[in-house]
Amino acid sequence: MEITRIGSGLGDPAAIEALMPELLAFDTVVNRASGLGADFDPIPEDLRHSLTSTSRYRTTLTWIGRIDGVIVAKGVAELRLTSNTDTAEVWCGVHPDHRRRGLGSALLTVMENELRAEGRTALSSYCEIPESVRVAELRGAHLPTETGAGTLPVAVPEVAFLHRRGYGFAQIERCAVAPTATAAGLDLGADADDYVIETWRGPVPEQRLEHIALLKRRMSTDTPGAERFGGEESWDGERVSALDEEKKVRGEEMATALALLDGEPAGFTQVGHSADRPAVGWQGGTLVRREHRGHRLGARLKVANHRSLAERTAVERVYTWNAVENSWMLAINDQAGFSTWAWVGLWTKNRR
Ligand SMILES: CC(C)(COP(=O)(O)OP(=O)(O)OC[C@H]1O[C@@H](n2cnc3c(N)ncnc32)[C@H](O)[C@@H]1OP(=O)(O)O)[C@@H](O)C(=O)NCCC(=O)NCCS
Repeated sequence: MEITRIGSGLGDPAAIEALMPELLAFDTVVNRASGLGADFDPIPEDLRHSLTSTSRYRTTLTWIGRIDGVIVAKGVAELRLTSNTDTAEVWCGVHPDHRRRGLGSALLTVMENELRAEGRTALSSYCEIPESVRVAELRGAHLPTETGAGTLPVAVPEVAFLHRRGYGFAQIERCAVAPTATAAGLDLGADADDYVIETWRGPVPEQRLEHIALLKRRMSTDTPGAERFGGEESWDGERVSALDEEKKVRGEEMATALALLDGEPAGFTQVGHSADRPAVGWQGGTLVRREHRGHRLGARLKVANHRSLAERTAVERVYTWNAVENSWMLAINDQAGFSTWAWVGLWTKNRR
């Protein structure tokens, strides 16, 4: 297998454009083989972004493996550039017709070695296992996470692969999907307190940039298990604006709900949706600051955001991810009509 690497924004634009259809076809085949469904097919603008972005905050490295000129494997590493510069989130996929011949291992080894040489020693990875696949393996042996919360069947190729490559199974998240209208209709009753919830769609308004930056900083430290995936992320208003600008270029819009108490940010939640697949929403981060927990703000924020989506966008269903430790949020999501779609294993490997 011949392996080449593209750093985002560093390739020849014409060559990247020429490569796009081939990579899109490869990503689609890998997704279809996974059983995750067409909602998870690659979005052309996201793929283009991963190859061409020149953001000063994040970058993507893409490795392409070919046999006889045809793409048989692809690896991706997401790198942060202004904080957590020793970390990388890696993923690789092999064409279903070429699996179990050592190609995944060969590609991941090249990726890990190159990343290590560039100072990226704290690696994380993930695998997404549809509920139907997990259920089919219920009788076989299961691997528990390091904290003991949740298991995945060892016979699933992606689980066997990451385990075999020396990754530790850190955490499991449930991916669930709900019709927007059901979640928007959840009646939480009234809350007798002074929290105010604002919603908007599109870029963060000027006067809220620093609020969102603060909440995003906290997101990197104040969520279950966050410390395993790196330290505090540096966020300021400028970075929040830059991210909005990137999303605009990709045809992606965010719907945001922000909770305020006396003008101070208490929590937020965001759902992204893309012009390319307007019926589908992707739950982004949700955070309630530690000092504001216990007021049902997580649920109130989510319901407000779903209402805003139902009233003002074409989003029909939303996918969400929750750590299985977060039983309180899972219960709220169940009430809001979410049903399990997949299980995501989060893995870490230290190469220092
Ligand atoms: C995970 C994936 C990349 C493995 O690619 P691959 O080329 O088949 O992997 P390899 O042949 O290098 O396998 C390496 C080891 O992983 C384990 N493994 C891989 N597939 C397995 C399977 N179907 N059953 C059991 N073990 C398996 C074995 O231990 C294997 O070593 P062995 O063949 O010496 O027993 C491939 O299944 C894939 O593309 N899955 C979809 C993408 C994805 O979810 N990636 C997440 C992980 S980054």
